[in-house]
Amino acid sequence: MTPILDMAGISVTFPGVKALDKAMLTVLPGEVHGLVGENGAGKSTLIKVLAGVYAPDEGVVSLGDEKHISTLTPNLVHTAGVRFIHQELHLVPHFTVAESVFMGQEISGRFGLDKSTMNARTEDFLRETLNADISPRTLIRDLGTAERKLVQISRALIDGRATLVVFDEPTAPLASDEVDRLFAAIGGLKSKGIAMIYVSHYLREITHISDRVTVLRNGKAVKVFNEVSDQITDPMISAMVGREIAEMFPKKENTSNKKLFEARELSGMGFSQVNFDVAAGEVLGIAGLVGSGREELIDTIYGLLPVTSGSMTLKAEAYNPKRPAKAVKAGVALVPRDRRHDGLVLDQPVIDNINLASLEEVSTVLMEKRGVAKNRAEAMANQLDLRPRNVTMIPRLLSGGNQQKVVLGRWLAKGGDLFILDEPTVGVDVGAKVEIYALIRELAAQGSAVIVSSGDPLELLGLSDRIMVLQRGFLAASHDAKDVNVDSLVALTTGGSSGAIE
Ligand SMILES: Nc1ncnc2c1ncn2[C@@H]1O[C@H](COP(=O)(O)OP(=O)(O)OP(=O)(O)O)[C@@H](O)[C@H]1O
Ligand SMILES: [Mg+2]
Repeated sequence: MTPILDMAGISVTFPGVKALDKAMLTVLPGEVHGLVGENGAGKSTLIKVLAGVYAPDEGVVSLGDEKHISTLTPNLVHTAGVRFIHQELHLVPHFTVAESVFMGQEISGRFGLDKSTMNARTEDFLRETLNADISPRTLIRDLGTAERKLVQISRALIDGRATLVVFDEPTAPLASDEVDRLFAAIGGLKSKGIAMIYVSHYLREITHISDRVTVLRNGKAVKVFNEVSDQITDPMISAMVGREIAEMFPKKENTSNKKLFEARELSGMGFSQVNFDVAAGEVLGIAGLVGSGREELIDTIYGLLPVTSGSMTLKAEAYNPKRPAKAVKAGVALVPRDRRHDGLVLDQPVIDNINLASLEEVSTVLMEKRGVAKNRAEAMANQLDLRPRNVTMIPRLLSGGNQQKVVLGRWLAKGGDLFILDEPTVGVDVGAKVEIYALIRELAAQGSAVIVSSGDPLELLGLSDRIMVLQRGFLAASHDAKDVNVDSLVALTTGGSSGAIE
């Protein structure tokens, strides 16, 4: 079969980094092609070469019927039928679904805009191609994240000329139940013969939906899997990291049971009468779908949302921070969910970003002691396996996953009595995950209480001592991690019948 896309010998150099080193990628018509690799391996750069954003130093690209194109331009690529689904959404909240889909490509009738045609075509496309039932008249602000993603896809594909769709980490902001809707859409596109490139750190997603997989490491395509099944997960990880990973999760050693944080009959926006506590030395996992109140509970503990009734106690004292700054003062450290927007200063060096939370300590230090800040940042960069290991770089030039590590490093460097980690490994590669899991257990071992909120059941099970499950704003279950498995945890979060394993 002639490939629909053939990229061969592609090299891209940035100042000081060879982002791609004779990389190759071949996509066959109608296939879903997984693209994986550690943070900084060059995935996004390769996608940007295809998009015509970066001109490679060397290499050739054949696209559709066009052979050996020397210069790709965004226009040429679009004409060839390649569409990109970016991570950011860029949708206007007060537009309807159909208005958003046709924005910039409106259909006019004799009397101005032909709204009924645009509505009908939007509804058809969503149903026929993306397997989604969404009214074209709904406002964007009333849609969930997965539905917005489908609108974004519709917008890119409504002209009906797409032959290859590129997804760069499409599920990072999605909860596990929403991922299924995206997969249904991908299934629909596939049945229409559209080829796809799918970039993700979720290896289970990759093996689930890909026909073939290419692994990038240090800018090189080190391996192509032509047959995909669950069996390739381990070889795929080895190819990504260039070594075997023996244990994903660290040992749990929890001895203390001294309560550090307590919530009593706590109610807030989106959750009611929740009771729980966390001890020093303990990791508590919180599971729950979108709408379960999981996000709101976390935001309330951190002082972003108000307590409506009930109470919290931190280190045996009444605790109601009202503002994040007060939470920090009281000894709470939060690694927020939306790290790219919350807190990363893109144009300040990594060293400043890592020291930002500890600023009080650092700023009391005179200029000649700037070495303290540097040492702290360098130690953190080592622990998190930051790439490149250069704390004077600005985060804007780092890959997505390495940006995440910088924000994580900031709070780990600062320390706290209670850590709240909201989706701590979204966008982070498998090798760095192992490091981060070890660090989290280390925090607990040093006497902090840790709350981990995550949509990944494996992560919760591997990391937590106890797991509590929220459902529609109520605490539905609370179990020792060893009494649940992935299936029972998924059943608990979705409200299925089976509870803890016997
Ligand atoms: N504009 C740029 N200037 C300088 N260096 C860059 C630039 N863009 C990317 N890099 C570097 O090129 C390398 C590859 O980055 P890329 O974004 O392609 O990685 P990635 O595989 O997408 O990683 P992630 O999984 O973290 O998103 C990294 O070392 C990164 O720091
Ligand atoms: Mg990337």
